[in-house]
Formats: sequence, structure tokens, C-alpha cells
Amino acid sequence: MCGIIGYVGARPCRDILFQGLRKLEYRGYDSAGLSIIRDGQFELLHSVGNLDNLEEILHRVGNGGTMGIAHTRWATHGRPSTENAHPHTDCTGRFAIVLNGIVENYMSLRAMLRAEGHEFTSETDAEVVAHLIERAYAGSLRDAVVAAYRQMEGHFTYCAITTDEPDLIVGVRKETPLVVGLGKDENFLASAIPAFMAETRTVLFPEDGQVVVITRDTVELYTLDGDPVPCEWTHVDWDEEAAEKGGYETFMLKEIHEQPTSLADTLAERIGPDGGISLDGLELAPEAIKALKQVLIVACGTSYHAGLVGKYALERWARVPVEVEVASEFRYRDPVIGEDTLCIAISQSGETADTLAAMRLARSAGARVLAVTNIVGSQATREADGVLFTRAGLEIGVAATKTFLTQELAVLLLALNFAEVRGTLSEEQVRAYTEELRRIPGLLDHYFASGAAAEVEDVARKYSGSRFFLCLGRNLGLPVALEGALKLKEISYIPTDAYAAGEMKHGPIALLEEGSPVLVVATDSFVYDKLISNVQEVKARGALIIAVASEGNENIAGMADDVLWVPKTDEMLAPLVAIVPLQLFAYYTAKAKGEKVDQPRNLAKTVTVE
Ligand code: M6R
Repeated sequence: MCGIIGYVGARPCRDILFQGLRKLEYRGYDSAGLSIIRDGQFELLHSVGNLDNLEEILHRVGNGGTMGIAHTRWATHGRPSTENAHPHTDCTGRFAIVLNGIVENYMSLRAMLRAEGHEFTSETDAEVVAHLIERAYAGSLRDAVVAAYRQMEGHFTYCAITTDEPDLIVGVRKETPLVVGLGKDENFLASAIPAFMAETRTVLFPEDGQVVVITRDTVELYTLDGDPVPCEWTHVDWDEEAAEKGGYETFMLKEIHEQPTSLADTLAERIGPDGGISLDGLELAPEAIKALKQVLIVACGTSYHAGLVGKYALERWARVPVEVEVASEFRYRDPVIGEDTLCIAISQSGETADTLAAMRLARSAGARVLAVTNIVGSQATREADGVLFTRAGLEIGVAATKTFLTQELAVLLLALNFAEVRGTLSEEQVRAYTEELRRIPGLLDHYFASGAAAEVEDVARKYSGSRFFLCLGRNLGLPVALEGALKLKEISYIPTDAYAAGEMKHGPIALLEEGSPVLVVATDSFVYDKLISNVQEVKARGALIIAVASEGNENIAGMADDVLWVPKTDEMLAPLVAIVPLQLFAYYTAKAKGEKVDQPRNLAKTVTVE
């Protein structure tokens, strides 16, 4: 949930570390700090709030040191404060650490260390690591890091430095990310590649329980027992520009506009010339697909909504029963699943702690596990039997947008592929859907080019003073309504509820009064007429209707107060277009209220804590 970076090399590192933190700020931004070794001494800096505050005081540290570690925090244990900001140091002031994750047994470790005379200066779980290293140190930082690791429970990555060995950084991970960057006369450790992407694209992903030691000239990997492990380097070819805003006022707006490209990339090479689907990496034999008795989808937040789209598609097309579960609940259930169950874990980051735990539970109960993720090398890819990558590119905005569309596309492709293999759709039917899928990126390109975003902005401004929104949908419109409501909650902070439109009369309709704004996903569908009955019920209570509707629908215009038009497509693929105006609506509502869209309060991009 935090971002960490370490640098050792030939250049002054203060600004390199700070720029690295800037790229990691999406992981947490309630406090930050860095620690640099200069002339055998630590120079330490901590600040509360986002990185602008750290930047203001950065000059207090000289730019002479050439090795250091830095951290941007998302608070778990201990409120945001300078005392709780990382790096943390030990009693002697010779060791400094930065940590991402949670040390679950920190209370007992803290009690033990206190009893031995260690003094703590923060409320965090992370500080125990500095003291454990101090306690274990006997001339080798690597050994002390391992000794600390062996006593710690939880999931975490940490990097340590010491003034006793001022030419190296040691890092280790357990179920949270750590990546190494190989430079010339310099090397890097970080939570994610963008932290050092401007400097190198040659990267290494240590496994859980491997210890990495970097100096200016070397990168060495060891097991916990000290046996060397060969380094397998990978080259990443991401466009650095992709990590910048590219002319848009925020990452979120840029990412909304990138959706046609993200969809096209996710489709690329997956639909053959004959219209058939080929999905590399699933590691599922046709016999296994035919034998499937049940699909279980586990995910959180936006990814859960993509999972709901998957349920409708898999059941309708592939005729297999599907359950979609919120991972944080599923992980504590006693599920009835077995070898003929396929668990599909959807996670853009591939690092969400609850989703990883749900995957592990499903697997221990006998299911095969398939990960749908956007991040190569993420934990989910390491633990799953097969992987289906979305290719949305890097998403920086905390509110997921382009990753959602590509997740929807991934589950639709999966459902069509299963239907093809199981023979539940004919070749012609599959071809008709894949042809339509191919059209979607172009339809959305045209949507943006036609100035639709500005039209949504006008409507959003009109309602931005609302105290409450209700979002309604039926069938495949329901996941879209749920996702639209999540976007509104996340970035505009306006309380928003989402409901199956038919369920509204069983309670939520009581919320409505004259002038209440209700967003309705009313794209073309076999349940359109049913939905319109619900719209009438809402209107009869004096509520205002903002409808998302398919172009060419003349009937809705007379009924709704405002219409957000979307391109016409097959009703099964409509979630791919219907969510876009709702993303824009949330975006422009938040903007009208003056909110910080890319960094919504209390949230972090990657939730690696339970
Ligand atoms: O990385 P994941 O897809 O596993 O993340 C799951 C949720 O934390 C995520 O979708 C969250 O709900 C976003 N803030 C949504 O905008």
C-alpha cells in the first residue's frame, strides 16, 4: 500500500529518489520520507501529506549522497504524522528501513524488543524491522535482514541500509511487490517499475523469500539460507510517456480517453482471421473447459464489477453456472468447490491482498485458478495456473477506468472462447460477436472525437450540487450502474447508491423525493421495457432521470431529463460503451466540486493490505 525506492550508484541520489517517489505516489500519499547516506552518516527527511510537502523541504538534505531509500506512505498502523513516516531507524541510528505491507505480529515483536530495552519513536508496525535488524546485526546487513524476516509474520517488502556498510541496499519480499532495476554504475530497488523507468528498463522480479543485495556495480540474489540464485533479467518496453499525463489535466481523464487503444491492444491477436478466439496463457485444455461444472469469480471493487459482467456472459454463452464473490468475504468462507471448478481472479494490479487470499483458498479447495490482470510479473501471475492479461497499459489514476474496460473485454473473450469450445454457441454466433467486438474501439474513438465528453461535462455540472445519486440498471446494465456509482463515490464524494432497477421498489425508492437525480443505464436490451417501467416509477416520485441510452433510441428522449448517448452495439457488449459516460459524469462532477481526482482521499491504487 506504500511505495518504496532505493538507489545506489555514482550520481547524487536525492532527486532520483524523489522523482521515483513521484511515480509511486498513486500507492499512497499521506506522508513521505527519505534517508540518504552521506559521509558515513544518515540524512533523514520526513513530511506529512503528499509529495509536494516533501519537495518543499527537500533542500534540507544536501544532494551529495549517492545511495539512499525513500518511501511514500498509505497509513495502516499509526496515523499520518512525521513520526510515523518512513524511513524508520533503530536505537543506535545505524540502520534505516522502508516497508510496504503489514507486519502482523508486530505487537509481540514490539513487546519483546521493548523488554530488551529498545525504544520506539513511532506507532507503526514497520519500525520493529529496524530494531530487529539492529538486534541481529553482526557485520552483515544481508544476514540481519534475513534474521528479521524469519521472525516476521504478514506480507511485506522492505529495504534496509546501514552506515556500517554504506555501499549496499538489501531488499526482501513476501507476497508484496519488489522489483530491481539494472543500470550502468547504478542499481535500483522499488515497489514498481515506473519508479525507475526513466533510468532503466532492465528489470528483475525477486521471488518471495529471496534476498536481493544491490551495490553500485552488482545485483546479487540469494535464498534465505544464503545460496546464490541466478538473476533472470527482463526488458520492459513501456512507453515512458505512458506514465505521464500526455496533455490531459489529470491521469484519470487521459486514461478514460485511452480506452479505445486499451481495448484494441487487449483484442490484438486474440481474434483470428476466421473470427475464432485464441487466448494464450490460459493453460486450460479443451477437455477441462468442456468438463467445467462451475466458475467462481473473485475480485474487489471495480474488478468485482467486471466479474459480474463475466457472470452474465459465461452463463448465457457458455452455459456454465457462475458465482461472483467479493474476495474479502470469500476468503473467510468454507466454499464447496472442487476440481471441476475454475476460479477466475480478476485484479488489475495482481497484488490485491484479499484477491490473492481468495485465490489461495480456492486453490486449496481443489479449483484451478486463472488470473485476469494487467500487470506482468504481479503476484497473481505467480500464483495462478494460467493468466489472461489485459493490456490497458499503466493506470495511474486511483479510480480504475481503462483497466475496467479491458477486464470487461477479457471476461467477454473468455466467455466466447468457452462457448466455442463447449459448443454452446455456433461458429457463426461466435464470429458475429467477435466482429462486433472488433468494432468497439472504433466506436469509442468516434465517441470521443464527436465531443461527447463535453456534453457529459455540461450535464455533470448541472447536477454537481446534488446531495445524493441513485444508479439503476437491469441485467448487464446492473454491473455498469454499480461501477458508475463507485466512480461517483470515489472521486466526487457524493453519496451514491446503485441498485437492480427491479429491486428499487423493495426499499430504495423511499429515498426519492422531488428533484432527486437518478442515473439509469438504459442501453438497448431485452429487459429495456422492464427497465422503463422502473423509470416511470421513479419519475412518478418527482425524481430527475439521467439516462445512458443507445444512439437512435427515440423513446427515451421524451422520458429522461438528460440523455448521455452511447454508440449502438450488441446488447451483450453494451457494458463496454455504457460505462464511459458514467466515468466522465463522475469525473466532471468531481471537477465541478474542485476535488483532486487522481488522488481521492483515503484510497490507494493498490490495496496490499487486508
Ligand atoms: O488491483 P485490483 O483490480 O485488484 O483492485 C481492486 C480494487 O481495489 C479497485 O478496483 C478499486 O475499487 C478502485 N479504486 C476502483 O476505482
